[in-house]
Amino acid sequence: ARLAILLSGRGSNMLALTREVREGVLQGLAEVAVVFSNIPEVAGLQAAAELGYPTASIDSRGRKRAEFDADVVAKLQEFRPDYIVLAGYMRILSPTFIRAFAGRIINIHPADTHQHQGLHAYDWAWENRLPETKITVHLVDEGLDTGPVLAQAPVDLRGADSLPEVERRGLAVEHRFYADTLARLLRKELKIEN
Ligand code: GRF
Repeated sequence: ARLAILLSGRGSNMLALTREVREGVLQGLAEVAVVFSNIPEVAGLQAAAELGYPTASIDSRGRKRAEFDADVVAKLQEFRPDYIVLAGYMRILSPTFIRAFAGRIINIHPADTHQHQGLHAYDWAWENRLPETKITVHLVDEGLDTGPVLAQAPVDLRGADSLPEVERRGLAVEHRFYADTLARLLRKELKIEN
């Protein structure tokens, strides 16, 4: 399957996914069609280009959401992706975008999406001193972190004594779990929640 990986920042999940495509659980199952960003200068996009992946960007700043998303859909379609894999893509997708890739847009959220949506999920876990949080991989619908859950993985936060430590533990789980979940999805091993 051809993956379009979308990001807006440092791209640690993109790096983990592309590594798994080259030499891990996604090898032979997935290929990287394009790495796309709505912010042309972010580190994640530069890292993808240095690894030799096709990259594309359209600057979202100052653009109206529907018009911007129409441009993004057209750009992504040039790369014929089977799945749109959001990896720190800091945009709410418009209905046009969702419809263009219906049922084929995947996101990772660093909390249980039934309990926490939107930004600052690790801050939320830290401030509430949760003993455990959950990483959620889900299909994207028109809401913010509301789509059907594909899989969740626990993060043990007992003894974590700072926000950076919470993030470190969470990201370590994210990096393994996103690729594992995509592999199971591509092998049609996942039952999708309704
Ligand atoms: C991750 O925590 C991801 O779960 C969230 O945004 C962050 C992106 O980090 N959606 P990175 O750019 O992949 O390092």
